[in-house]
Amino acid sequence: MTQKLPPGWRTTRITRALGIDLPIVLGPFGGASSTALVARVSSAGGLGSFGAYSLSGQRIVQVAAEIRALTDRPFAFNLWVPHDGSDEYRPTADEFARHLAPLQPYFSELGVEVPERPDRFFPDFTEQFEAVLEARPAALSFVYGAPPPTLVERAKEQGITLVGTASTVAEAVFLERAGMDVVVASGFEAAGHRVSFLAAAEDSLIGSLALVPQVVDSVRVPVVAAGGIASGRQLAAVLVLGADAAQVGTAFLATDESAISDPHRAALFSERATHTALTRAFSGRLARGIPNEFSQQVATGSQPVAPFPLQSWLMGRLKQAAIAQGRSELISLWAGQSAGMIRFRNAAEVIDDLVAEADRLLG
Ligand SMILES: Cc1cc2nc3c(=O)[nH]c(=O)nc-3n(C[C@H](O)[C@H](O)[C@H](O)COP(=O)(O)O)c2cc1C
Repeated sequence: MTQKLPPGWRTTRITRALGIDLPIVLGPFGGASSTALVARVSSAGGLGSFGAYSLSGQRIVQVAAEIRALTDRPFAFNLWVPHDGSDEYRPTADEFARHLAPLQPYFSELGVEVPERPDRFFPDFTEQFEAVLEARPAALSFVYGAPPPTLVERAKEQGITLVGTASTVAEAVFLERAGMDVVVASGFEAAGHRVSFLAAAEDSLIGSLALVPQVVDSVRVPVVAAGGIASGRQLAAVLVLGADAAQVGTAFLATDESAISDPHRAALFSERATHTALTRAFSGRLARGIPNEFSQQVATGSQPVAPFPLQSWLMGRLKQAAIAQGRSELISLWAGQSAGMIRFRNAAEVIDDLVAEADRLLG
């Protein structure tokens, strides 16, 4: 009796390296990842990724245990490399007060206590890295560069597959040289932050159709295409361009399993999702989302923006109250350029649709 083999497109260098069934990666969502969504994508045969940049080491270890209680399949963590010294950023009291001042009216309106200057804004990268080593996920992906060689070595000794994220060909080459086993080519269609680290984000804006084949031709390691992939047509297209997997963000972000707020999810399913724009408004770093009143004020210059990580931290202090009070004009509505295509409210439907369409086109 002959066994029915799966269509060839499902087996790539990445699925073989990670022991997964489908060349589909769930994009990590720093601040909006959920263990339920990660486990759902991994259990369905893809690679679930948890965005952990805002988590303490202790919390990272807990999250790994929570994911393992839901699935025994491989999954990944994602961290932000403090490439520009952001880990060390300590504004003086004067600087802190100056950057806080333009946001004071929002603290008053929302009834949120004006915050004191903290000792640090986000958990220490080395502490996070050590926790990931302890948690031993199948893969660890990074944005904003690669960690130092000693840390790369230690992760490799643990058998963890290391993944770097490039927004340009030069960054892809840099990441391969830095020891990354896989490179994500992140086109400017993608939701969330533009993760450039060799040149300014504004000077590193390349669409996936141009970026993916040039990265594939420039590195030997397998490439994951990210940015604008929300259908089986687009998955098939990036595999044809030479990618070994597709990383899908927005289409999964919109599902009920993701940890975004109700107004964010509502915006993703509304007419507004057909237009996205890049803004520094919510974090001090360039990122793509659905424009709202706050990002428009920044765009017109009437609202100043503090540097990262201070702006991110300050807006984070307002977020829960803004959501509770229905003030979605004050929260980031991250979305990619294919947001206008999304249709499904649960992750299994997203995967089934991606696979069925890719089967039809490539099977
Ligand atoms: C809310 C949100 C948070 C994100 N956070 C991260 C992150 O922490 N690390 C990362 O590598 N990518 C992050 N991304 C990018 C996604 O993982 C993914 O690469 C991107 O959404 C793919 O493009 P698409 O949205 O067009 O599918 C984030 C995206 C969103 C929407």
